[in-house]
Amino acid sequence: MSAHKIIIAIDGYSSCGKSTLARELAVKLGYNYIDSGAMYRAITLYFLRNSVDFDNPEAVSRALADINLSFVFNEHRQASDIYLNDEDAEPYIREMLVSEKVSQVAAIKAVRTFAVAQQQQMGTGKGIVMDGRDIGTTVFPAAELKLFMTAAPEVRVMRRFKELYATNHAITIEEIRHNLELRDYIDATREESPLRQATDAILLDNSNLSREEQLELVLELVKDRATNRLN
Ligand code: DC
Repeated sequence: MSAHKIIIAIDGYSSCGKSTLARELAVKLGYNYIDSGAMYRAITLYFLRNSVDFDNPEAVSRALADINLSFVFNEHRQASDIYLNDEDAEPYIREMLVSEKVSQVAAIKAVRTFAVAQQQQMGTGKGIVMDGRDIGTTVFPAAELKLFMTAAPEVRVMRRFKELYATNHAITIEEIRHNLELRDYIDATREESPLRQATDAILLDNSNLSREEQLELVLELVKDRATNRLN
């Protein structure tokens, strides 16, 4: 039996630990990890910096024509940094201002068409783990392994709080809860590729799982999907 490279699609609500799992899987498997949310965040950052009117389709199209996104592997993080027109945008894309607007930007059809085309291009060689909201439903509907991650709301709020508090002591739990609830609502109810569990995705509730337990469980699933079985 031989293992071949597959596509792993990870979707789910905000702050369910998708990127942690995706990064760890990619490192273990020697795959490429792509954080599709970083693309929507970088586009949002560009729109905010350049005062692009989200409600004006022409302004959005013009802005998209000026945006070039790329990923460059960062040894220290063991993951790729997103570059926005040759600038490492990673330090700015998780700021609250971007988080507050990103769901609105990600709901724009032209923005999704722009991002999805690049995401699909990155998957042509397989051996990729991509996380987001529509990876198993729209970007890679034929992915060999699809996971839909969820966790109890309070667990998610506290995870996000710990992450952000490390660099911003002014952040409050209430602010984070409000942002997560709002983003989940917009992401799940938008017209274009709303957040949905693909019918063939495996539901993974990690409220009570350690990172190690979760990784082990998913590696077993990968082994199963990536092994050529004669049946
Ligand atoms: O994964 P994240 O929280 O960094 O994603 C930021 C936002 O981008 C999220 O609120 C929804 C949007 N997004 C999306 O619409 N589709 C994706 N594939 C990934 C993210």
